[in-house]
Amino acid sequence: MPTIGWNKKVWDSEYNWDAGGDEWSGTWGGSDMHWYGSILPRIHCFLPAATILEIGPGYGRWSQYLKENCDNLIVLDISDKCIQACKERFKSSSNIQYIVNDGSSLDMILDGSVDFIFSFDSLVHAEDDVMSGYIDQFSRILKEDGAGFIHHSNLGEYRRYFSLLRWLLSKLSLSTEREGSGRSINDDGSGISGTLQKIAFSLAGNMIIDRSHLRALSMTADKFNRYAEDAGLQCVGQEIINWGSKRLIDCFSTFTVKGSRWQRDNILVRNGAYMKEAGSILNASRLYSSSSFK
Ligand SMILES: C[S@@+](CC[C@H](N)C(=O)[O-])C[C@H]1O[C@@H](n2cnc3c(N)ncnc32)[C@H](O)[C@@H]1O
Repeated sequence: MPTIGWNKKVWDSEYNWDAGGDEWSGTWGGSDMHWYGSILPRIHCFLPAATILEIGPGYGRWSQYLKENCDNLIVLDISDKCIQACKERFKSSSNIQYIVNDGSSLDMILDGSVDFIFSFDSLVHAEDDVMSGYIDQFSRILKEDGAGFIHHSNLGEYRRYFSLLRWLLSKLSLSTEREGSGRSINDDGSGISGTLQKIAFSLAGNMIIDRSHLRALSMTADKFNRYAEDAGLQCVGQEIINWGSKRLIDCFSTFTVKGSRWQRDNILVRNGAYMKEAGSILNASRLYSSSSFK
C-alpha cells in the first residue's frame, strides 16, 4: 500500500519527471484542456481566493493556474525535488510560498489563514491515516468562509475485489497496474515483463480485471465525509468517479467550514461517465488546446 515512505521515495527519486506531469493529462488533450475543461468547472465558485494551499503540486501542473487565481499560493509537498522544480519554474512569480513537509504535518501554516485548499492527482495515493491527519488540520488553517477541493481514493469501496485481485496476481507475479497506464511504477515494484502482463490482461479481456492505479486501498468517500464531520467541517459535494477504470475508484470531495457561506447538505454523485467527459475534452483539444496552435 502507498505509505508516506513510498510516496517520498517514488516522487522524490524514482519517478522520471522529464514531462513535468503533463504526461498524465494526455487523456484530456493536455494540461490546459484538463484544467479548463475538467478541473476549473468544478472549483470556479471558490476562485479567485486570497490564499490558496495546494497539497502535492509535483512540478506545478496545477500551480501554474492556481497562482493566477489568488494573492498568495502556498505549495506544499513531501518531495524536496518537486518543490525545487516549482521554485525554478515559478521564479518570476512573487506570490508563491514553498514548503517541504513530512507528508502529514501542516504545522507551518498559520491558523485561520487559508481560503481554499486544493489537491489534484496527489492524495489519491494517501491512505486513511494520512487523509484523516490532514483533514483534522484543515479546520485549524481555514478562514471562516474557507473551503477545499480534494481528489482522493475511493478504492476502499472495492476492497474485497482489489485485495483478492492483488493476491491472485501476486501468485502469478503480476501487478494490478498495466504498462502504459501513465504511472510506470508497479504496485509493489515487482511486476514482471510487460509482455506477460499484456497477455494476462488481454486474456482476461478486461471483463474481470480492473486497474487500481496505485490508489490507497484504505480510503473511501464515506471515510472522507466522516473525517470532515469529526473535524468540524462539512462536505458539500462528493463526486465519485472512474479513473481509467470501470469501477469508481476516485472521489472529488468539496468541503467547507461549518457555518460558512458555502454550507449546504452534502450532494453525493456517482459519476461513471468521468472518462467519457475526458474523451469529449480530448476531441475538443484538436481545435482549442494551446498545443494545437504550435
Ligand atoms: C502524482 S504526483 C502529482 C503532482 C501534481 N498534483 C500533478 O497533478 O501534476 C503526486 C505528488 O504528491 C506529492 N505527495 C504525495 N503524498 C503526499 C503527502 N502525503 N503530502 C504531501 N505531498 C504528497 C508527491 O510528492 C508528488 O509531488
